[in-house]
Amino acid sequence: MPIEIEAPEQLGYDNIQCNLTESSYSDFKFKDLKLDLDDLVIAYSDHRGHPELRQLLAQETGGGIIADQILLTSGAAQALFIISTTLLEPGDEMIVIRPNYATNLETPRAIGANLKIVDLTFEKGWKIDPTALESQITSKTKFVSITVPHNPTGTVMSADDLKTLVQITDKHGCRLLVDETYREMNFNGTLPYAATLAPHVISVASFSKTFGLPGIRVGWLMTRDEKLFEQFFAAKEQIQICGSALDEEIACQFYRKRGHFISLIFNNLQRRFTTLKNWMESQEYLEWVEPTGGCVAFPRINAAVLSRLDLEKFYRTLNREYSTHVGPGHWFEQPKHFMRIGYGWPTDEALSKGLRNIESAIRAQL
Ligand SMILES: Cc1ncc(COP(=O)(O)O)c(C=O)c1O
Repeated sequence: MPIEIEAPEQLGYDNIQCNLTESSYSDFKFKDLKLDLDDLVIAYSDHRGHPELRQLLAQETGGGIIADQILLTSGAAQALFIISTTLLEPGDEMIVIRPNYATNLETPRAIGANLKIVDLTFEKGWKIDPTALESQITSKTKFVSITVPHNPTGTVMSADDLKTLVQITDKHGCRLLVDETYREMNFNGTLPYAATLAPHVISVASFSKTFGLPGIRVGWLMTRDEKLFEQFFAAKEQIQICGSALDEEIACQFYRKRGHFISLIFNNLQRRFTTLKNWMESQEYLEWVEPTGGCVAFPRINAAVLSRLDLEKFYRTLNREYSTHVGPGHWFEQPKHFMRIGYGWPTDEALSKGLRNIESAIRAQL
């Protein structure tokens, strides 16, 4: 996948001055977390995942999900892999929105499933329309897959639309997968954990995005369907027996102090979003659908400028002369004049400078 080959992790973080490609909040340092790990036993751990952590996660759902309905996984990516490989056989039908986080498309493709892709559009505000999804459902549909809040656009489905989609998928007897990895990053209040809404709904999330801990590789899936849970659990056992005792303990100690970290994170996130919004409103080359969640935006170079621009040259200049990276549209199977800007990760200085550099790299050609 281009996003993997061209990722800053592969280029080396130290080689990039303004890294606006990231899709998470800034990574925490070990010392920020004030951990107590001396007595941790490095043993195989509970195969479902750290019991206290699952208990804490369950409490957050307000009782809609219990600890035994939560399976810890190695990141949301593994949860998505487990779900697709469990639910799909070659030729099976599934419905998925695009653009999207690549794994939501690539794993079903790799299995040889028949993907029915519902394209979201800039013109329609990247809106996920439950009726557009319903029109694709047939008796062969195994599941419908959505991402809310949405990566790469930062748009958020309304609670009513989510509930409508839950009803629609229930009526048609197919499952609903909600990748809610950005759940907490919702500017207008969080949506319910999707899996609390009905037994046929599966929620996926992780510590990587809102919580800035992608390096511990802890995520989860939730489902109230007991039989399905057992299948997911069996798949996890085949892949890795259990999660990393160290990673899960770090996640648990972090989550005990969730409230403290969330307020810190949201202070920084809000300020960085204001920087991005002010910039978008003041410059003349890009247009966007203003995000209402997440920590990324997906603007595009407007038509007037695009007709005068060599896009390959623009990205080359941006990367090489300005040491600034964004996520070009092709990472998301979109035209290259779209770009994902991750504003939640860089320092304030790197963000402001990176945004100015985008403008300069465009202006250089006009
Ligand atoms: C929507 C979405 N889901 C899942 C993931 C996977 O994240 P992780 O495996 O680090 O939890 C990502 C990462 O970019 C994502 O954007």
